[in-house]
Amino acid sequence: MISETTCAQLPKESHTLPPHGVFLAPMAGVNDPVFRRICKRLGADLTYTEMISAKGLSYNNTRTERMLSLDETESPVAVQLFGKDPHTLAEQAQALEASHGADIALIDINMGCPARKIAGKGEGAALMRDPELAAAILRAVVGAVKLPVTVKFRKGYELDADDAVAFAQRAEQCGVAAVAVHGRTAQQFYHGRADRALIGRVRQAVTIPVIASGDVFTPDDIRAYFEEQGADAVMVARGAQGNPWIFSASEPTLEERVRIAWEHTEGLHGCQPQRLASMRKHVSWYFCGVSHAATIRRLANDCVTLLDYQALFEQILAWR
Ligand SMILES: Cc1cc2nc3c(=O)[nH]c(=O)nc-3n(C[C@H](O)[C@H](O)[C@H](O)COP(=O)(O)O)c2cc1C
Repeated sequence: MISETTCAQLPKESHTLPPHGVFLAPMAGVNDPVFRRICKRLGADLTYTEMISAKGLSYNNTRTERMLSLDETESPVAVQLFGKDPHTLAEQAQALEASHGADIALIDINMGCPARKIAGKGEGAALMRDPELAAAILRAVVGAVKLPVTVKFRKGYELDADDAVAFAQRAEQCGVAAVAVHGRTAQQFYHGRADRALIGRVRQAVTIPVIASGDVFTPDDIRAYFEEQGADAVMVARGAQGNPWIFSASEPTLEERVRIAWEHTEGLHGCQPQRLASMRKHVSWYFCGVSHAATIRRLANDCVTLLDYQALFEQILAWR
């Protein structure tokens, strides 16, 4: 672990202390409960759920509720909600606090997602274009729960926007406990370099903790955010895909890759069998860069059952 202050040291019942450490960033379609558990065990100080629709929760949508299934070993977890209606978000945050409060470290509001199906509806990153509504959402959620509320957003919306400093200051005034900032604009999606120095500028502009996100692929990237930009916490996103060892700054052996890939596959089959096909991409990531990687990727794409994956892992070990 890179940071000396970890969430594990924070008393669980205290909901006012700021978050510190190295976190698994929220990732839709990636952060299932088993992957979160693995990252936590390998050193992540905090893990985030996938983004969860407040509206979906309000309709008792089972698929949405499934995203909330928490692994007992990962508690407390950060739950990320998205939506654009202040009342629905506040109501669902309150319901979450009542049902899962002891297992939740914080509630994060997504104001950074650039995907058309989200931002096109005025949710996610689109809220950066409507700071009044964004502030109304944050005030409503902060007022509805005792849990710390944080907000994750981008450098801005338009390609060359630079709105994060003002947005962070406004969020602070709304009472959020911390801000998470990704140094790309929504129109950049995931392209180009993340603006690392933006984190330092936000850090200077607010008194609440700043969680850095953007181009974190190595322990050096993590260190740079802490040491050069004064970040209070750093999120690992794509850098953790297939590489939960980034949280322990270690290099896995092939056997270790197989062991973790199998734990992930078997665990997902146990708790969310309908999502087993999502292991195809995880398996490609776990074995990216090892010999036979292209063949493994091709074979993983044909895996359907747990036994298919097991046979593939045995084959990988046999190739040693
Ligand atoms: C597959 C994928 C899914 C993501 N899902 C979410 C999400 O649900 N909520 C969110 O706030 N950010 C999401 N993000 C953004 C990441 O949390 C992170 O801010 C971004 O990838 C920048 O970090 P990186 O350059 O180190 O990958 C997602 C990113 C990826 C690649």
